[in-house]
Amino acid sequence: MASSDAPSPPTYEVDISTLYEDVRSGLSGKNKRLSPKYLYDAHGSELFDRITEQPEYYPTRTETEILEDVAGELLEGVSELVELGSGYSRKTQILLDALEEDGGDRYVALDVSQSAIEASAPRLIEDHPKLSIEGCVADFEKNLDIVEHKGRRLVCFLGSTLGNFVPAERVKFLDRVQAMLAPGDELLIGIDLVKDIEVMEAAYDDSAGVSAEFALNLITVLNRELDGDLRIEDFEYCAPYDRDNNWIDMKLRAIRAVDAHFAKIDFDVHFDEGEELRTEVSCKFKRERFERTLVEAGLKLTRWDTDANGWFALALATKVQYRTRFRSKL
Ligand code: SAH
Ligand code: TRP
Repeated sequence: MASSDAPSPPTYEVDISTLYEDVRSGLSGKNKRLSPKYLYDAHGSELFDRITEQPEYYPTRTETEILEDVAGELLEGVSELVELGSGYSRKTQILLDALEEDGGDRYVALDVSQSAIEASAPRLIEDHPKLSIEGCVADFEKNLDIVEHKGRRLVCFLGSTLGNFVPAERVKFLDRVQAMLAPGDELLIGIDLVKDIEVMEAAYDDSAGVSAEFALNLITVLNRELDGDLRIEDFEYCAPYDRDNNWIDMKLRAIRAVDAHFAKIDFDVHFDEGEELRTEVSCKFKRERFERTLVEAGLKLTRWDTDANGWFALALATKVQYRTRFRSKL
Protein backbone atom coordinates (compact mmCIF):
# COMPACT_ATOMS: atom_id res chain seq x y z
CA MET A 1 0.00 0.00 0.00
CA ALA A 2 1.24 3.49 -0.76
CA SER A 3 1.92 5.69 2.23
CA SER A 4 2.54 9.40 2.10
CA ASP A 5 6.21 9.16 3.08
CA ALA A 6 7.02 6.25 0.74
CA PRO A 7 9.63 7.31 -1.80
CA SER A 8 8.00 7.91 -5.17
CA PRO A 9 9.53 6.00 -8.07
CA PRO A 10 12.07 8.05 -9.99
CA THR A 11 10.73 9.56 -13.17
CA TYR A 12 13.04 10.14 -16.08
CA GLU A 13 12.52 12.62 -18.82
CA VAL A 14 14.15 10.30 -21.35
CA ASP A 15 15.09 6.60 -21.43
CA ILE A 16 18.12 6.71 -19.17
CA SER A 17 18.60 2.92 -19.36
CA THR A 18 20.19 3.19 -22.80
CA LEU A 19 21.36 6.82 -22.85
CA TYR A 20 24.80 6.31 -21.32
CA GLU A 21 25.80 3.57 -23.74
CA ASP A 22 24.21 5.33 -26.72
CA VAL A 23 26.14 8.51 -25.99
CA ARG A 24 29.40 6.64 -25.62
CA SER A 25 28.97 4.82 -28.91
CA GLY A 26 27.10 7.54 -30.84
CA LEU A 27 29.28 10.54 -29.94
CA SER A 28 32.71 8.95 -30.22
CA GLY A 29 34.65 9.43 -33.44
CA LYS A 30 33.05 10.39 -36.74
CA ASN A 31 29.48 9.73 -37.98
CA LYS A 32 27.98 11.09 -34.80
CA ARG A 33 24.39 10.03 -34.24
CA LEU A 34 21.85 9.39 -31.47
CA SER A 35 18.49 7.65 -31.36
CA PRO A 36 15.62 10.07 -32.11
CA LYS A 37 13.91 8.89 -28.93
CA TYR A 38 16.07 11.30 -26.90
CA LEU A 39 14.44 14.26 -28.67
CA TYR A 40 11.18 13.58 -26.86
CA ASP A 41 11.58 14.75 -23.28
CA ALA A 42 8.59 16.73 -21.96
CA HIS A 43 9.69 19.91 -23.74
CA GLY A 44 10.58 18.01 -26.93
CA SER A 45 7.14 16.39 -27.03
CA GLU A 46 5.54 19.83 -26.74
CA LEU A 47 7.78 21.21 -29.46
CA PHE A 48 6.94 18.35 -31.79
CA ASP A 49 3.27 19.05 -31.18
CA ARG A 50 3.92 22.64 -32.26
CA ILE A 51 5.72 21.41 -35.40
CA THR A 52 2.53 19.61 -36.42
CA GLU A 53 0.73 22.98 -36.45
CA GLN A 54 3.25 24.78 -38.66
CA PRO A 55 1.91 25.67 -42.12
CA GLU A 56 4.95 24.02 -43.80
CA TYR A 57 4.50 20.71 -41.95
CA TYR A 58 2.06 18.99 -44.33
CA PRO A 59 2.31 15.38 -42.96
CA THR A 60 -0.15 15.90 -40.08
CA ARG A 61 -2.74 17.68 -42.25
CA THR A 62 -2.58 15.18 -45.08
CA GLU A 63 -2.65 12.14 -42.82
CA THR A 64 -5.65 13.57 -40.96
CA GLU A 65 -7.44 14.04 -44.27
CA ILE A 66 -6.95 10.35 -45.16
CA LEU A 67 -7.88 9.12 -41.68
CA GLU A 68 -11.15 11.06 -41.84
CA ASP A 69 -11.97 9.33 -45.13
CA VAL A 70 -11.17 5.76 -44.19
CA ALA A 71 -11.35 5.36 -40.38
CA GLY A 72 -14.83 3.78 -40.42
CA GLU A 73 -13.77 1.06 -42.86
CA LEU A 74 -10.45 0.39 -41.13
CA LEU A 75 -11.98 -0.15 -37.71
CA GLU A 76 -14.73 -2.56 -38.80
CA GLY A 77 -14.60 -5.64 -36.57
CA VAL A 78 -11.52 -4.41 -34.66
CA SER A 79 -11.52 -5.00 -30.92
CA GLU A 80 -8.23 -3.38 -29.86
CA LEU A 81 -6.22 -0.53 -31.28
CA VAL A 82 -2.54 -0.47 -30.29
CA GLU A 83 -0.63 2.67 -31.24
CA LEU A 84 3.18 2.86 -31.35
CA GLY A 85 4.76 6.28 -30.85
CA SER A 86 1.36 7.72 -29.99
CA GLY A 87 2.60 11.15 -28.80
CA TYR A 88 -0.46 13.17 -27.77
CA SER A 89 -2.75 10.78 -29.71
CA ARG A 90 -4.40 13.68 -31.51
CA LYS A 91 -5.03 12.09 -34.91
CA THR A 92 -5.91 8.89 -33.08
CA GLN A 93 -9.16 10.53 -31.92
CA ILE A 94 -10.50 9.89 -35.41
CA LEU A 95 -9.71 6.17 -35.13
CA LEU A 96 -11.01 6.02 -31.55
CA ASP A 97 -14.37 7.51 -32.53
CA ALA A 98 -14.72 4.80 -35.18
CA LEU A 99 -13.52 2.07 -32.79
CA GLU A 100 -16.03 3.07 -30.13
CA GLU A 101 -18.87 3.37 -32.63
CA ASP A 102 -18.11 -0.09 -33.98
CA GLY A 103 -18.21 -1.74 -30.54
CA GLY A 104 -14.43 -2.06 -30.01
CA ASP A 105 -13.01 -2.54 -26.52
CA ARG A 106 -9.57 -1.17 -25.96
CA TYR A 107 -6.90 1.38 -26.90
CA VAL A 108 -3.26 1.01 -25.90
CA ALA A 109 -0.97 4.03 -26.41
CA LEU A 110 2.72 3.14 -26.34
CA ASP A 111 5.32 5.89 -26.30
CA VAL A 112 8.73 6.52 -24.80
CA SER A 113 7.54 9.94 -23.64
CA GLN A 114 5.88 9.60 -20.26
CA SER A 115 4.78 13.23 -20.32
CA ALA A 116 2.98 12.81 -23.66
CA ILE A 117 1.11 9.73 -22.40
CA GLU A 118 0.17 11.43 -19.14
CA ALA A 119 -0.89 14.64 -20.82
CA SER A 120 -3.24 12.90 -23.26
CA ALA A 121 -4.75 10.09 -21.15
CA PRO A 122 -7.40 12.10 -19.23
CA ARG A 123 -8.80 13.56 -22.45
CA LEU A 124 -8.91 10.15 -24.16
CA ILE A 125 -10.68 8.57 -21.17
CA GLU A 126 -13.24 11.36 -20.98
CA ASP A 127 -13.99 11.34 -24.71
CA HIS A 128 -14.29 7.55 -25.00
CA PRO A 129 -16.21 6.22 -22.01
CA LYS A 130 -16.91 2.85 -23.62
CA LEU A 131 -13.25 2.05 -24.29
CA SER A 132 -10.59 0.78 -21.94
CA ILE A 133 -7.66 3.20 -22.36
CA GLU A 134 -4.14 2.10 -21.42
CA GLY A 135 -0.88 4.01 -21.56
CA CYS A 136 2.45 2.22 -21.85
CA VAL A 137 5.75 4.08 -21.41
CA ALA A 138 8.11 1.89 -23.40
CA ASP A 139 10.66 1.79 -26.19
CA PHE A 140 9.07 0.40 -29.35
CA GLU A 141 12.43 -0.89 -30.48
CA LYS A 142 12.63 -3.19 -27.47
CA ASN A 143 9.42 -3.70 -25.51
CA LEU A 144 6.65 -4.55 -27.94
CA ASP A 145 5.83 -7.80 -26.16
CA ILE A 146 4.55 -5.98 -23.07
CA VAL A 147 1.19 -5.35 -24.75
CA GLU A 148 -0.98 -8.37 -24.05
CA HIS A 149 -3.04 -9.60 -27.00
CA LYS A 150 -6.71 -9.59 -26.08
CA GLY A 151 -8.71 -9.50 -29.29
CA ARG A 152 -8.72 -8.70 -32.99
CA ARG A 153 -6.07 -6.10 -33.23
CA LEU A 154 -5.16 -3.10 -35.35
CA VAL A 155 -1.66 -1.81 -34.66
CA CYS A 156 -1.10 1.73 -35.91
CA PHE A 157 2.10 3.64 -36.47
CA LEU A 158 1.27 7.12 -37.68
CA GLY A 159 3.10 10.35 -38.47
CA SER A 160 5.70 8.80 -40.76
CA THR A 161 7.62 7.71 -37.68
CA LEU A 162 8.60 4.61 -39.66
CA GLY A 163 10.61 6.98 -41.85
CA ASN A 164 12.78 7.83 -38.86
CA PHE A 165 14.50 4.42 -39.06
CA VAL A 166 17.39 3.86 -41.45
CA PRO A 167 16.49 1.00 -43.85
CA ALA A 168 18.21 -1.89 -42.02
CA GLU A 169 16.61 -0.91 -38.71
CA ARG A 170 13.27 -0.40 -40.41
CA VAL A 171 13.02 -4.02 -41.54
CA LYS A 172 14.08 -5.32 -38.12
CA PHE A 173 11.45 -3.12 -36.49
CA LEU A 174 8.68 -4.22 -38.87
CA ASP A 175 9.64 -7.81 -38.29
CA ARG A 176 9.09 -7.31 -34.56
CA VAL A 177 5.79 -5.53 -35.15
CA GLN A 178 4.73 -8.42 -37.36
CA ALA A 179 5.24 -10.68 -34.33
CA MET A 180 2.58 -8.65 -32.44
CA LEU A 181 -0.02 -9.69 -35.00
CA ALA A 182 -2.15 -12.82 -35.01
CA PRO A 183 -3.66 -14.03 -38.29
CA GLY A 184 -6.47 -11.62 -39.15
CA ASP A 185 -4.88 -8.69 -37.28
CA GLU A 186 -3.77 -5.65 -39.23
CA LEU A 187 -1.08 -3.00 -39.22
CA LEU A 188 -1.72 0.59 -40.32
CA ILE A 189 1.32 2.69 -41.20
CA GLY A 190 1.36 6.38 -42.11
CA ILE A 191 4.18 7.13 -44.53
CA ASP A 192 5.33 10.25 -46.26
CA LEU A 193 5.79 10.06 -50.04
CA VAL A 194 8.48 11.50 -52.32
CA LYS A 195 7.45 14.89 -53.71
CA ASP A 196 8.94 18.31 -54.61
CA ILE A 197 12.15 18.81 -52.70
CA GLU A 198 11.26 22.39 -51.69
CA VAL A 199 8.02 21.19 -50.11
CA MET A 200 9.78 18.47 -48.13
CA GLU A 201 12.67 20.64 -47.01
CA ALA A 202 10.38 23.44 -45.83
CA ALA A 203 8.41 20.96 -43.70
CA TYR A 204 11.54 20.08 -41.74
CA ASP A 205 12.87 23.61 -41.37
CA ASP A 206 9.81 25.79 -40.83
CA SER A 207 10.12 29.57 -40.96
CA ALA A 208 9.04 30.00 -37.34
CA GLY A 209 12.08 27.95 -36.31
CA VAL A 210 10.17 25.32 -34.32
CA SER A 211 11.90 22.38 -36.06
CA ALA A 212 15.29 23.91 -35.28
CA GLU A 213 14.30 24.47 -31.65
CA PHE A 214 13.09 20.85 -31.46
CA ALA A 215 16.38 19.43 -32.75
CA LEU A 216 18.52 21.79 -30.65
CA ASN A 217 16.59 20.70 -27.55
CA LEU A 218 18.69 17.54 -27.76
CA ILE A 219 21.65 19.57 -26.44
CA THR A 220 19.59 20.59 -23.41
CA VAL A 221 18.54 16.98 -22.84
CA LEU A 222 22.14 15.74 -22.96
CA ASN A 223 23.40 18.46 -20.64
CA ARG A 224 20.64 17.82 -18.13
CA GLU A 225 20.80 14.02 -18.09
CA LEU A 226 24.60 13.73 -18.25
CA ASP A 227 25.67 16.86 -16.42
CA GLY A 228 27.27 18.17 -19.60
CA ASP A 229 28.53 21.54 -20.80
CA LEU A 230 27.64 21.67 -24.50
CA ARG A 231 26.53 25.13 -25.66
CA ILE A 232 23.47 25.48 -27.87
CA GLU A 233 24.99 28.54 -29.55
CA ASP A 234 27.85 26.37 -30.88
CA PHE A 235 25.42 24.42 -33.11
CA GLU A 236 23.10 25.11 -36.01
CA TYR A 237 20.28 22.93 -37.29
CA CYS A 238 20.18 21.83 -40.91
CA ALA A 239 17.83 19.46 -42.70
CA PRO A 240 18.69 18.95 -46.39
CA TYR A 241 17.02 16.33 -48.58
CA ASP A 242 19.41 13.54 -49.55
CA ARG A 243 18.37 12.38 -53.03
CA ASP A 244 20.47 9.22 -52.94
CA ASN A 245 18.83 7.92 -49.80
CA ASN A 246 15.42 9.58 -50.25
CA TRP A 247 15.50 11.07 -46.80
CA ILE A 248 15.60 14.38 -45.00
CA ASP A 249 18.83 14.34 -43.03
CA MET A 250 18.30 16.23 -39.79
CA LYS A 251 21.45 17.21 -38.01
CA LEU A 252 23.16 19.63 -35.68
CA ARG A 253 26.32 21.13 -37.16
CA ALA A 254 29.10 22.52 -34.99
CA ILE A 255 29.66 26.17 -36.01
CA ARG A 256 33.12 26.06 -34.43
CA ALA A 257 35.31 23.38 -32.88
CA VAL A 258 33.66 22.10 -29.70
CA ASP A 259 35.08 20.29 -26.70
CA ALA A 260 32.68 19.29 -23.98
CA HIS A 261 32.47 16.94 -21.03
CA PHE A 262 29.62 14.82 -19.66
CA ALA A 263 30.52 14.58 -15.99
CA LYS A 264 27.95 11.93 -15.10
CA ILE A 265 29.59 9.36 -17.36
CA ASP A 266 33.05 10.92 -17.38
CA PHE A 267 33.01 11.21 -21.15
CA ASP A 268 34.64 13.80 -23.42
CA VAL A 269 33.16 14.75 -26.74
CA HIS A 270 34.85 16.64 -29.56
CA PHE A 271 33.42 18.19 -32.72
CA ASP A 272 35.59 19.66 -35.46
CA GLU A 273 34.25 22.87 -36.95
CA GLY A 274 31.50 21.83 -39.40
CA GLU A 275 31.17 18.35 -37.94
CA GLU A 276 27.62 17.08 -37.67
CA LEU A 277 25.52 15.06 -35.24
CA ARG A 278 22.62 13.32 -36.96
CA THR A 279 19.49 13.65 -34.83
CA GLU A 280 17.09 11.88 -37.18
CA VAL A 281 16.38 10.93 -40.76
CA SER A 282 12.89 11.12 -42.28
CA CYS A 283 12.58 8.76 -45.23
CA LYS A 284 10.23 9.50 -48.07
CA PHE A 285 8.70 6.48 -49.76
CA LYS A 286 7.35 5.25 -53.06
CA ARG A 287 4.69 2.58 -53.06
CA GLU A 288 6.72 -0.15 -54.76
CA ARG A 289 9.75 0.21 -52.57
CA PHE A 290 7.58 0.26 -49.50
CA GLU A 291 5.79 -2.93 -50.55
CA ARG A 292 9.14 -4.66 -50.88
CA THR A 293 10.10 -3.58 -47.36
CA LEU A 294 6.88 -5.07 -46.03
CA VAL A 295 7.58 -8.38 -47.76
CA GLU A 296 11.05 -8.52 -46.21
CA ALA A 297 9.41 -8.24 -42.80
CA GLY A 298 6.82 -10.97 -43.43
CA LEU A 299 3.99 -8.56 -44.17
CA LYS A 300 1.86 -7.84 -47.21
CA LEU A 301 0.07 -4.71 -48.32
CA THR A 302 -3.72 -5.03 -48.32
CA ARG A 303 -4.83 -1.45 -48.79
CA TRP A 304 -3.26 1.86 -49.83
CA ASP A 305 -4.94 5.26 -49.41
CA THR A 306 -3.46 8.67 -50.16
CA ASP A 307 -4.62 12.28 -49.84
CA ALA A 308 -5.85 14.13 -52.92
CA ASN A 309 -2.32 15.34 -53.84
CA GLY A 310 -0.65 11.96 -53.31
CA TRP A 311 1.66 13.48 -50.68
CA PHE A 312 1.09 11.02 -47.85
CA ALA A 313 -0.16 7.43 -47.66
CA LEU A 314 -1.85 5.16 -45.17
CA ALA A 315 -0.77 1.60 -45.83
CA LEU A 316 -2.65 -1.34 -44.36
CA ALA A 317 -0.82 -4.66 -44.05
CA THR A 318 -1.33 -8.16 -42.68
CA LYS A 319 1.02 -10.91 -41.70
CA VAL A 320 1.83 -13.45 -44.40
CA GLN A 321 1.00 -17.03 -43.42
CA TYR A 322 4.03 -18.61 -45.06
CA ARG A 323 7.34 -16.96 -45.22
CA THR A 324 10.50 -17.75 -47.08
CA ARG A 325 13.49 -16.63 -45.07
CA PHE A 326 16.71 -15.90 -46.86
CA ARG A 327 19.71 -16.59 -44.72
CA SER A 328 21.63 -13.63 -46.10
CA LYS A 329 18.94 -11.23 -44.86
CA LEU A 330 18.87 -12.48 -41.28
N1 SAH B 1 2.04 9.71 -33.55
C1 SAH B 1 2.23 11.14 -33.38
C2 SAH B 1 3.64 11.50 -32.89
C3 SAH B 1 4.75 11.22 -33.89
S1 SAH B 1 6.32 11.83 -33.33
C4 SAH B 1 1.95 11.84 -34.67
O1 SAH B 1 1.73 11.17 -35.68
O2 SAH B 1 1.91 13.07 -34.70
C5 SAH B 1 7.11 10.33 -32.87
C6 SAH B 1 6.61 9.77 -31.52
O3 SAH B 1 7.29 8.54 -31.30
C7 SAH B 1 6.92 10.67 -30.33
O4 SAH B 1 5.78 10.77 -29.50
C8 SAH B 1 8.06 9.96 -29.60
O5 SAH B 1 8.05 10.15 -28.21
C9 SAH B 1 7.82 8.52 -29.98
N2 SAH B 1 9.03 7.71 -30.01
C10 SAH B 1 10.21 7.98 -30.65
N3 SAH B 1 11.09 6.97 -30.49
C11 SAH B 1 10.46 6.04 -29.72
C12 SAH B 1 10.83 4.76 -29.23
N4 SAH B 1 12.05 4.25 -29.48
N5 SAH B 1 9.92 4.07 -28.51
C13 SAH B 1 8.68 4.57 -28.26
N6 SAH B 1 8.27 5.78 -28.71
C14 SAH B 1 9.15 6.50 -29.43
N1 TRP C 1 8.28 11.73 -37.38
C1 TRP C 1 8.57 13.09 -37.80
C2 TRP C 1 8.77 13.10 -39.31
O1 TRP C 1 9.60 12.40 -39.82
C3 TRP C 1 9.77 13.66 -37.06
C4 TRP C 1 10.07 15.10 -37.33
C5 TRP C 1 9.27 16.00 -37.91
C6 TRP C 1 11.24 15.85 -37.00
N2 TRP C 1 9.84 17.25 -37.95
C7 TRP C 1 11.04 17.18 -37.42
C8 TRP C 1 12.41 15.54 -36.38
C9 TRP C 1 12.02 18.19 -37.22
C10 TRP C 1 13.40 16.54 -36.18
C11 TRP C 1 13.18 17.86 -36.61
O2 TRP C 1 8.06 13.77 -40.00
